[in-house]
Amino acid sequence: MKKFITFEGMDGAGKSTHLSWFAEALRRRGQDVVVTREPGGTPLGEQLREILLRQAMGMDTEALLMFAARAEHIEQVISPALLAGKVVLSDRFSDASFAYQGSGRGMGWERLKQLEAWVHNDLQPDLTLFFDVPVEVAKLRLANNTTPDRFEQEHGDFFQRVRAGYHRRVQENPQRYAVIDAAQSLEKVTAQLTAILATIQT
Ligand code: TMP
Repeated sequence: MKKFITFEGMDGAGKSTHLSWFAEALRRRGQDVVVTREPGGTPLGEQLREILLRQAMGMDTEALLMFAARAEHIEQVISPALLAGKVVLSDRFSDASFAYQGSGRGMGWERLKQLEAWVHNDLQPDLTLFFDVPVEVAKLRLANNTTPDRFEQEHGDFFQRVRAGYHRRVQENPQRYAVIDAAQSLEKVTAQLTAILATIQT
């Protein structure tokens, strides 16, 4: 059973658009679906999101605030919904902390694993859809964004590291991920998602 499904990828990979489509497809199957996001998903988490996306801060602070927002998110939203038998789709979760704070910023993987163990307890996504896209393609898609946030303002090297971080996470635990070639057209990505939907039980 795949009840907790997370959507990951670089800024510009298109995951949020695909998440909406995926949620609708599950609802058509009669599922009770909760759509949420990180950082955010709770009133406090959304306040932390504003700070995280706009306010300069050190690497440790950034990681700790991401996990603080996540602790609230798990306790207030994710765990209760799963307990009630709902399907939870989250636009990002801890893989993003490994990719962005770990690989992108250079924070030690072990530190992040400690935070993950602390905040998650035993919770892990049942399935993670990783929308993989070359940095150049993601940048082109973000080119029209006139108000880039603190992460979107980063340079190509940062995003190369973020992408490598996601790949490292996939290699560490391949059975949890479906890697989607998100450089393709919307129609082709939707076809990949349709194939995934057909194979999963929710
Ligand atoms: P979004 O643009 O997908 O809503 O995500 C907001 C930004 O936050 C995105 O650039 C990635 C970043 N982020 C992290 O750096 N670490 C995390 O743990 C999460 C959840 C997001």
